[in-house]
Amino acid sequence: MKIIDGKATATEIKSEIKSIVAKMIDEGKRPPHLAAILVGDDPASQTYVNSKAKTCQDVGFTSSLYRQEADVTEAELLKLIDFLNNDHEVDGFIVQLPLPKHISVQKVLNSVAPHKDVDGFHPVNVGRMLLGEPTYLPATPFGIMQLIERYGIETEGKNCVVLGRSNIVGTPMGVLLSRNASPGNCTVTLCHSRTQNLKAIAANADILIAAIGKPGFVTADMVKDNAVVIDVGIHRIPSDKTKSGFKLTGDVSYDEVASKCSYITPVPGGVGPMTIAGLLLNTLKAAQKEITY
Ligand code: GUN
Repeated sequence: MKIIDGKATATEIKSEIKSIVAKMIDEGKRPPHLAAILVGDDPASQTYVNSKAKTCQDVGFTSSLYRQEADVTEAELLKLIDFLNNDHEVDGFIVQLPLPKHISVQKVLNSVAPHKDVDGFHPVNVGRMLLGEPTYLPATPFGIMQLIERYGIETEGKNCVVLGRSNIVGTPMGVLLSRNASPGNCTVTLCHSRTQNLKAIAANADILIAAIGKPGFVTADMVKDNAVVIDVGIHRIPSDKTKSGFKLTGDVSYDEVASKCSYITPVPGGVGPMTIAGLLLNTLKAAQKEITY
């Protein structure tokens, strides 16, 4: 069994990005600039945004944060997005999700200019991903594809089961692993809340992606011998073994599953750090105007 070290891989990617940024600056260009909009004070969102800002600093990117009160109107938020769409000093930006209930997520995501949509959530970018055209891939699936590629995991012809059909992870993961590319060419089954016989389907997977949002959901009986298991979940659950009284755990019951796998991602230190790496890679692409629309 090999542990897929997302933290080390993200560090490797960050150092690659850092040297590209240094070269850009040597050539007299300004560093890539990532902006984030944070609405309200959801603690998990604040943690994500802070960690994005810190990572930007580590690689030499400029980052800026636009904080909005939880009661900001949809019109005000759309105005801020329009401002960032037209700010030539900003290469890409994200609107941190979730948003308060009175704001239409789809309306917000539709109003981000596709060439600045480093989250890859705009319908134009989702469509381009589906067609295999150059685009910004959503950060978590992008990070997972990087892990699969950098660890040399064979995907050609494999049975891949994705648990969860979210727009952010499960659905794009299914698209990326089934398309005619390398990594890719998997036979993908996308499972969700209405799936029948989910356990039996999961147990047939050569590659199992758990993005279902339930702590410890994947147990040993759902995993085939020598499967590759990628755990996208991250949950803070009570624990009497830590000083804080909490521990981080994924969608996979790691202790019972790990010994059956050929490869597995731990939580923390697996997929999590790769999400930010994916976002940085997208922002670098945006700054280099690599994608034309
Ligand atoms: N909330 C949880 N994951 C994400 C993400 O990848 N991007 C944004 N914008 N919000 C999120």
